[in-house]
Amino acid sequence: MSDPVKALVFDAYGTLFDVHSVIKLCDELWPGKGTALSQLWRTKQLEYTWQRSLMQRYEDFTHVTEAGLRYGCKALGLALDEAARSRLMQAYLRLDTYPEVSETLKRLAGRKLAILSNGSPAMLDPVVANAGLSEILDAVISVDSLRIFKPDPRVYKLAVDRLGVPTGSIGFVSSNCWDAIGAKAFGFRVYWCNRAGAPLDELGVSPDHEMRSLAELPALVGAA
Ligand code: LAC
Repeated sequence: MSDPVKALVFDAYGTLFDVHSVIKLCDELWPGKGTALSQLWRTKQLEYTWQRSLMQRYEDFTHVTEAGLRYGCKALGLALDEAARSRLMQAYLRLDTYPEVSETLKRLAGRKLAILSNGSPAMLDPVVANAGLSEILDAVISVDSLRIFKPDPRVYKLAVDRLGVPTGSIGFVSSNCWDAIGAKAFGFRVYWCNRAGAPLDELGVSPDHEMRSLAELPALVGAA
């Protein structure tokens, strides 16, 4: 028998918040380029976190996110002026939540609920407040105090220390396969929200559960 899940820790971007909700504004600024820019922006944002961790050259997620945006624009030949840069970075503070998020979190109440994210507090606090999630979350935990990004195991340990719940009683939820694998390698019980039906990364580690939407989570943790 495995331990009951006493706390659920969520990744932020791509799991609760839809990073691609910026496509609309990207398309308004550069018609027809929104999807390509948003994809490249996200890809580079993530690559830079891994590269910076390996190089031991941490910069906070605002910096990394803006660098990803600048790269994406350069690669696609889009002129990023100050007004566009500012609007797009502001949009990151008001990302849409996925439609099932609010209802799912309500159904999970009774357990400790938290976010563990690469985002800096300056990015996470506004997006959480804008989504109306401040009340339902017990903690919003940022990597910023450690100055290293996921999937470094020290980041996952932050959640154990902050929540005061043993590793084996924490369920970790991410739609990012690399993050789900990192959390599983650390020792969490992991729920991979595989929204796109992607194949599992070939790293020799498998999440405990796979789902297509967060709406499946309450039943998986026995809350439904
Ligand atoms: C997060 C990003 C990486 O940590 O999705 O929220």
